[in-house]
Amino acid sequence: MIKTNQLRKVYDNGFEAVKSLSLHVNKGDIYGFLGPNGAGKTTTIRMLIGLIEPTSGDLEVSNLNVKKNKGEIKNLIGVLPESHGYYEWMTGEEYLLFFSALHKINKQQRKDKVTELLDLVSLTAKANVKVSQYSRGMRQRLGIARTLIHDPEIIFLDEPTLGLDPQGQKDIENILLHLNQVKGVTIFITSHLLKDIEKICNRVAIVKAGTLIEEDSVKGLMDKYKKDIHKDDLSLEDVFFHLTSDGKGEQ
Ligand SMILES: Nc1ncnc2c1ncn2[C@@H]1O[C@H](COP(=O)(O)OP(=O)(O)O)[C@@H](O)[C@H]1O
Ligand SMILES: [Mg+2]
Repeated sequence: MIKTNQLRKVYDNGFEAVKSLSLHVNKGDIYGFLGPNGAGKTTTIRMLIGLIEPTSGDLEVSNLNVKKNKGEIKNLIGVLPESHGYYEWMTGEEYLLFFSALHKINKQQRKDKVTELLDLVSLTAKANVKVSQYSRGMRQRLGIARTLIHDPEIIFLDEPTLGLDPQGQKDIENILLHLNQVKGVTIFITSHLLKDIEKICNRVAIVKAGTLIEEDSVKGLMDKYKKDIHKDDLSLEDVFFHLTSDGKGEQ
Protein backbone atom coordinates (compact mmCIF):
# COMPACT_ATOMS: atom_id res chain seq x y z
CA MET A 1 0.00 0.00 0.00
CA ILE A 2 2.91 2.29 0.83
CA LYS A 3 6.45 1.56 -0.21
CA THR A 4 9.50 3.77 0.08
CA ASN A 5 12.98 2.95 -1.08
CA GLN A 6 15.96 4.81 0.36
CA LEU A 7 13.88 7.91 0.87
CA ARG A 8 15.92 10.93 1.83
CA LYS A 9 15.21 14.57 2.59
CA VAL A 10 17.80 17.27 2.96
CA TYR A 11 16.22 20.64 3.72
CA ASP A 12 17.46 23.82 2.04
CA ASN A 13 19.60 24.67 5.07
CA GLY A 14 21.51 21.42 4.54
CA PHE A 15 19.90 19.51 7.40
CA GLU A 16 19.27 15.85 6.59
CA ALA A 17 15.94 15.13 8.28
CA VAL A 18 15.31 11.74 6.66
CA LYS A 19 18.14 9.36 5.83
CA SER A 20 17.61 6.44 3.47
CA LEU A 21 14.26 5.29 4.78
CA SER A 22 12.73 2.10 3.34
CA LEU A 23 9.20 1.44 4.62
CA HIS A 24 6.55 -1.13 3.72
CA VAL A 25 2.94 -0.65 4.72
CA ASN A 26 0.49 -3.40 3.77
CA LYS A 27 -3.15 -2.97 2.85
CA GLY A 28 -5.22 -3.11 6.03
CA ASP A 29 -2.34 -2.21 8.36
CA ILE A 30 -2.60 0.16 11.27
CA TYR A 31 1.00 1.19 10.89
CA GLY A 32 2.59 3.10 13.74
CA PHE A 33 5.41 5.41 12.66
CA LEU A 34 7.09 6.00 15.97
CA GLY A 35 10.02 8.03 17.16
CA PRO A 36 11.02 10.95 19.37
CA ASN A 37 10.46 14.57 18.42
CA GLY A 38 12.69 15.56 15.53
CA ALA A 39 12.99 11.98 14.21
CA GLY A 40 11.66 12.98 10.79
CA LYS A 41 8.10 11.66 11.08
CA THR A 42 6.32 14.76 9.81
CA THR A 43 8.89 15.22 7.05
CA THR A 44 8.23 11.65 5.90
CA ILE A 45 4.45 12.15 5.90
CA ARG A 46 4.86 15.36 3.89
CA MET A 47 6.81 13.44 1.27
CA LEU A 48 4.32 10.56 1.21
CA ILE A 49 1.37 12.88 0.59
CA GLY A 50 3.22 14.80 -2.11
CA LEU A 51 3.52 18.06 -0.20
CA ILE A 52 7.31 18.24 -0.38
CA GLU A 53 9.75 16.62 -2.79
CA PRO A 54 12.20 14.02 -1.56
CA THR A 55 15.87 14.81 -2.18
CA SER A 56 16.28 11.25 -3.43
CA GLY A 57 14.66 7.83 -3.25
CA ASP A 58 11.43 6.34 -4.53
CA LEU A 59 8.01 6.32 -2.99
CA GLU A 60 4.76 4.62 -3.88
CA VAL A 61 1.33 5.07 -2.37
CA SER A 62 -1.49 2.75 -3.52
CA ASN A 63 0.91 1.32 -6.12
CA LEU A 64 1.31 4.76 -7.69
CA ASN A 65 4.54 6.68 -7.91
CA VAL A 66 3.96 9.74 -5.74
CA LYS A 67 6.04 12.08 -7.89
CA LYS A 68 4.14 11.22 -11.08
CA ASN A 69 0.58 10.78 -9.78
CA LYS A 70 -0.01 13.53 -7.25
CA GLY A 71 -3.52 14.36 -8.47
CA GLU A 72 -4.70 10.77 -8.47
CA ILE A 73 -3.21 10.02 -5.08
CA LYS A 74 -5.01 12.98 -3.51
CA ASN A 75 -8.32 11.19 -4.12
CA LEU A 76 -7.10 8.01 -2.47
CA ILE A 77 -5.69 9.48 0.74
CA GLY A 78 -6.94 11.46 3.71
CA VAL A 79 -4.60 13.55 5.84
CA LEU A 80 -4.82 14.92 9.37
CA PRO A 81 -1.79 17.19 9.74
CA GLU A 82 0.13 17.74 12.95
CA SER A 83 -1.29 21.18 13.53
CA HIS A 84 -4.23 22.43 11.61
CA GLY A 85 -6.62 25.30 11.95
CA TYR A 86 -10.38 25.01 12.18
CA TYR A 87 -12.98 27.45 11.07
CA GLU A 88 -14.08 28.39 14.54
CA TRP A 89 -17.25 30.14 13.46
CA MET A 90 -18.65 27.08 11.72
CA THR A 91 -20.58 24.32 13.44
CA GLY A 92 -19.17 20.79 13.19
CA GLU A 93 -21.74 19.94 10.57
CA GLU A 94 -21.05 23.06 8.50
CA TYR A 95 -17.33 22.32 8.67
CA LEU A 96 -17.80 18.83 7.20
CA LEU A 97 -20.29 20.06 4.60
CA PHE A 98 -17.76 22.69 3.54
CA PHE A 99 -15.04 20.07 3.03
CA SER A 100 -17.39 17.71 1.21
CA ALA A 101 -18.14 20.56 -1.20
CA LEU A 102 -14.39 21.11 -1.70
CA HIS A 103 -14.08 17.43 -2.59
CA LYS A 104 -16.84 17.92 -5.18
CA ILE A 105 -19.11 15.37 -3.59
CA ASN A 106 -22.55 15.26 -5.14
CA LYS A 107 -24.91 17.67 -3.33
CA GLN A 108 -27.47 15.00 -2.41
CA GLN A 109 -24.80 12.73 -1.01
CA ARG A 110 -23.10 15.42 1.09
CA LYS A 111 -25.69 15.55 3.83
CA ASP A 112 -25.81 11.73 4.16
CA LYS A 113 -22.04 11.45 4.27
CA VAL A 114 -21.74 14.16 6.91
CA THR A 115 -24.48 12.54 9.04
CA GLU A 116 -22.66 9.19 8.79
CA LEU A 117 -19.31 10.72 9.74
CA LEU A 118 -20.67 12.74 12.66
CA ASP A 119 -22.11 9.49 14.00
CA LEU A 120 -18.83 7.64 13.45
CA VAL A 121 -16.90 10.15 15.57
CA SER A 122 -19.69 10.55 18.16
CA LEU A 123 -20.36 14.21 17.37
CA THR A 124 -24.01 13.91 16.30
CA ALA A 125 -25.19 15.65 19.48
CA LYS A 126 -22.70 18.48 18.83
CA ALA A 127 -23.38 18.85 15.10
CA ASN A 128 -24.92 22.29 15.51
CA VAL A 129 -22.46 23.61 18.06
CA LYS A 130 -19.74 26.00 16.86
CA VAL A 131 -16.24 24.52 16.64
CA SER A 132 -15.01 27.33 18.90
CA GLN A 133 -16.82 25.55 21.72
CA TYR A 134 -15.36 22.10 20.99
CA SER A 135 -12.84 20.49 23.33
CA ARG A 136 -9.48 19.37 21.94
CA GLY A 137 -10.72 15.79 21.78
CA MET A 138 -13.83 16.81 19.85
CA ARG A 139 -11.71 18.85 17.43
CA GLN A 140 -9.44 15.89 16.75
CA ARG A 141 -12.47 13.66 16.16
CA LEU A 142 -13.90 16.25 13.78
CA GLY A 143 -10.52 16.34 12.04
CA ILE A 144 -10.60 12.57 11.57
CA ALA A 145 -14.14 12.83 10.14
CA ARG A 146 -12.80 15.42 7.70
CA THR A 147 -10.08 13.08 6.46
CA LEU A 148 -12.78 10.51 5.59
CA ILE A 149 -15.10 12.73 3.60
CA HIS A 150 -14.11 11.26 0.21
CA ASP A 151 -13.82 7.61 1.36
CA PRO A 152 -10.02 7.37 1.13
CA GLU A 153 -8.21 4.01 1.12
CA ILE A 154 -5.43 5.27 3.35
CA ILE A 155 -5.38 7.93 6.02
CA PHE A 156 -2.29 9.66 7.38
CA LEU A 157 -2.63 10.96 10.94
CA ASP A 158 0.23 13.02 12.35
CA GLU A 159 0.22 12.85 16.16
CA PRO A 160 -3.58 12.69 16.41
CA THR A 161 -3.58 11.94 20.14
CA LEU A 162 -1.18 14.75 21.09
CA GLY A 163 -2.42 16.70 24.09
CA LEU A 164 -5.48 14.54 24.68
CA ASP A 165 -6.49 13.14 28.04
CA PRO A 166 -6.72 9.34 28.43
CA GLN A 167 -10.41 9.28 27.51
CA GLY A 168 -9.74 11.44 24.44
CA GLN A 169 -6.96 9.07 23.38
CA LYS A 170 -9.18 6.05 23.89
CA ASP A 171 -11.95 7.62 21.78
CA ILE A 172 -9.51 8.14 18.90
CA GLU A 173 -8.15 4.61 19.23
CA ASN A 174 -11.67 3.15 19.11
CA ILE A 175 -12.56 5.19 16.03
CA LEU A 176 -9.38 4.04 14.26
CA LEU A 177 -9.97 0.39 15.15
CA HIS A 178 -13.52 0.61 13.85
CA LEU A 179 -12.41 2.29 10.62
CA ASN A 180 -9.76 -0.33 10.06
CA GLN A 181 -11.77 -3.40 10.98
CA VAL A 182 -15.18 -2.46 9.58
CA LYS A 183 -14.25 -0.22 6.65
CA GLY A 184 -10.87 -1.70 5.80
CA VAL A 185 -9.08 1.67 5.86
CA THR A 186 -5.28 1.45 5.98
CA ILE A 187 -3.96 3.79 8.67
CA PHE A 188 -0.51 5.42 8.87
CA ILE A 189 -0.20 7.07 12.26
CA THR A 190 2.70 8.87 13.90
CA SER A 191 3.39 9.40 17.56
CA HIS A 192 6.28 10.21 19.83
CA LEU A 193 4.41 8.56 22.68
CA LEU A 194 4.99 4.90 22.03
CA LYS A 195 2.63 3.72 24.71
CA ASP A 196 -0.26 5.57 23.15
CA ILE A 197 -0.72 3.68 19.97
CA GLU A 198 1.14 0.42 20.26
CA LYS A 199 -2.13 -1.16 21.38
CA ILE A 200 -3.88 -0.51 18.09
CA CYS A 201 -1.00 -0.91 15.61
CA ASN A 202 -0.34 -4.27 14.01
CA ARG A 203 2.95 -3.09 12.51
CA VAL A 204 5.35 -0.35 13.54
CA ALA A 205 8.45 1.41 12.35
CA ILE A 206 10.74 2.98 14.91
CA VAL A 207 12.75 5.94 13.64
CA LYS A 208 15.35 8.09 15.24
CA ALA A 209 17.29 11.00 13.75
CA GLY A 210 15.87 10.22 10.32
CA THR A 211 17.02 6.59 10.41
CA LEU A 212 14.89 3.48 10.55
CA ILE A 213 15.79 1.39 13.55
CA GLU A 214 13.22 -1.37 13.16
CA GLU A 215 10.15 -2.21 11.11
CA ASP A 216 8.12 -5.22 12.18
CA SER A 217 4.88 -6.45 13.68
CA VAL A 218 4.49 -5.41 17.30
CA LYS A 219 4.55 -9.07 18.28
CA GLY A 220 7.62 -9.72 16.13
CA LEU A 221 9.53 -6.92 17.87
CA MET A 222 8.54 -8.08 21.33
CA ASP A 223 9.52 -11.68 20.57
CA LYS A 224 12.80 -10.57 19.06
CA TYR A 225 13.93 -8.48 22.02
CA LYS A 226 12.36 -10.14 25.03
CA LYS A 227 15.42 -12.32 25.55
CA ASP A 228 17.64 -9.21 25.77
CA ILE A 229 15.42 -7.18 28.05
CA HIS A 230 14.72 -8.83 31.32
CA LYS A 231 11.41 -7.40 32.28
CA ASP A 232 7.92 -8.74 32.89
CA ASP A 233 5.12 -7.13 30.95
CA LEU A 234 7.46 -5.85 28.22
CA SER A 235 6.22 -2.82 26.28
CA LEU A 236 7.21 -1.35 22.95
CA GLU A 237 8.66 1.58 24.84
CA ASP A 238 11.06 -0.78 26.64
CA VAL A 239 12.16 -2.15 23.25
CA PHE A 240 12.63 1.36 21.93
CA PHE A 241 14.83 2.43 24.84
CA HIS A 242 16.80 -0.77 24.47
CA LEU A 243 17.39 -0.06 20.77
CA THR A 244 18.28 3.60 21.17
CA SER A 245 21.04 2.99 23.62
CA ASP A 246 21.80 6.61 24.50
CA GLY A 247 18.22 6.86 25.73
CA LYS A 248 18.11 10.51 24.71
CA GLY A 249 14.82 11.87 23.53
CA GLU A 250 14.60 14.93 21.37
CA GLN A 251 17.21 15.57 18.75
N1 LIG B 1 11.63 23.24 6.74
C1 LIG B 1 12.64 22.77 7.47
N2 LIG B 1 13.90 23.21 7.29
C2 LIG B 1 14.94 22.73 8.00
N3 LIG B 1 14.84 21.78 8.95
C3 LIG B 1 13.60 21.29 9.19
C4 LIG B 1 12.44 21.75 8.47
N4 LIG B 1 11.38 21.07 8.93
C5 LIG B 1 11.83 20.24 9.87
N5 LIG B 1 13.16 20.36 10.04
C6 LIG B 1 14.02 19.60 10.97
O1 LIG B 1 13.99 18.25 10.57
C7 LIG B 1 13.97 17.39 11.70
C8 LIG B 1 12.78 16.47 11.61
O2 LIG B 1 11.59 17.21 11.76
P1 LIG B 1 10.16 16.55 11.72
O3 LIG B 1 10.02 15.80 10.46
O4 LIG B 1 9.17 17.62 12.00
O5 LIG B 1 10.25 15.52 12.95
P2 LIG B 1 9.12 14.83 13.83
O6 LIG B 1 7.82 15.00 13.12
O7 LIG B 1 9.54 13.40 13.95
O8 LIG B 1 9.13 15.51 15.15
C9 LIG B 1 13.96 18.29 12.93
O9 LIG B 1 15.27 18.40 13.42
C10 LIG B 1 13.46 19.62 12.38
O10 LIG B 1 13.96 20.68 13.13
MG1 LIG C 1 6.06 15.81 13.72
